[in-house]
Amino acid sequence: MDASSDTAIAALLLDWYDVHARDLPWRALPGSSSPDPYRVWLSEVMLQQTTVAAVKDYFAAFTTRWSTVEALAAAADEEVMAAWAGLGYYARARNLMACAREVARLGRFPDTEEGLRALPGLGAYTAAAVAAIAFGRRAVVVDANVERVVSRLFAIEEPLPGSRPAIRAKADAITPDARAGDFAQAMMDLGATVCTSRNPRCLLCPIAAPCKARRMGDPARLPVKAPKKAKAVRQGRAFWIEREETSEVWLVRRPGSGMLGGMRALPDDGWAARADGSGNGPLAGPWESAGKVGHVFTHFALELNLSVYLGDRFDGLGEGEWWPIDRIDEAGLPTLFAKAARLALAMAVDEKEDA
Ligand code: ADE
Repeated sequence: MDASSDTAIAALLLDWYDVHARDLPWRALPGSSSPDPYRVWLSEVMLQQTTVAAVKDYFAAFTTRWSTVEALAAAADEEVMAAWAGLGYYARARNLMACAREVARLGRFPDTEEGLRALPGLGAYTAAAVAAIAFGRRAVVVDANVERVVSRLFAIEEPLPGSRPAIRAKADAITPDARAGDFAQAMMDLGATVCTSRNPRCLLCPIAAPCKARRMGDPARLPVKAPKKAKAVRQGRAFWIEREETSEVWLVRRPGSGMLGGMRALPDDGWAARADGSGNGPLAGPWESAGKVGHVFTHFALELNLSVYLGDRFDGLGEGEWWPIDRIDEAGLPTLFAKAARLALAMAVDEKEDA
């Protein structure tokens, strides 16, 4: 068989995967019985835009607490949002709930790519990945690792994201009819451990022989990426309102489906740009500035100024709850607000030391 034929490439990858597959908690190892669709689906949602290392503890916590899709479907939204805190891209958690409830209603996960795609909040990537990995269906699974491997294997020079259709066509051509799930995961593992962005380890690569970029001498040059626009920087202000007599802080729930929607948070000013820097907050009285924290979102960077208000009487705070400061870690704050809370607490420690 010609080593550069599509079937030869798939065979080389699958042989490599039989020996080198990473042992990950949501996987059935090559050759063993099919994995639980619930665990495959949950892991694939968590792994979007997030590394395997970051996902492992969340996956363990979720599957311990909600061991089936029915259990997850029956959970309260707030509990799931709090358990997701720190993983980012919170729309994923909202979509997760919608999808779990529909699967529970149906009684099982659909076992085809089209059936999965019809579930609420389940996108094209996840449908292909679950169809292939959980149900052994032939589906073309393309994530960022696969994009890199395919761009190099076929020396696709067109920059991303314009090259996506060409990459998908090539990925389709090399996807085998049998073991499509193992093949998809082999591509992902190869991209994560061998065909890495900066220093590809071509000496260890099972498809080095047919790889066009390697033959051309500089595989790390691919894929070419269109230059990214610099991110706009927004200014915002958050408020740490502390009731000293009970050592509690005022927390709110962010509305609906906007940024960090549904998550518990410190109150803020809507991140509207405000240049006065005065530190005035939603209450009249003594405010102190605690400094600022930075956080990078997909489409902008945020500098969040933190204003602190200490006292024992507050009126007109609107909807929210007093939360014990010594249990702030259990509030399920997204990373931005967890950073702000750490800043407020560090300021409190400094003040105590000064006193
Ligand atoms: N990234 C996304 N899905 C994955 C999987 N199933 N295995 C390894 N890395 C992944």
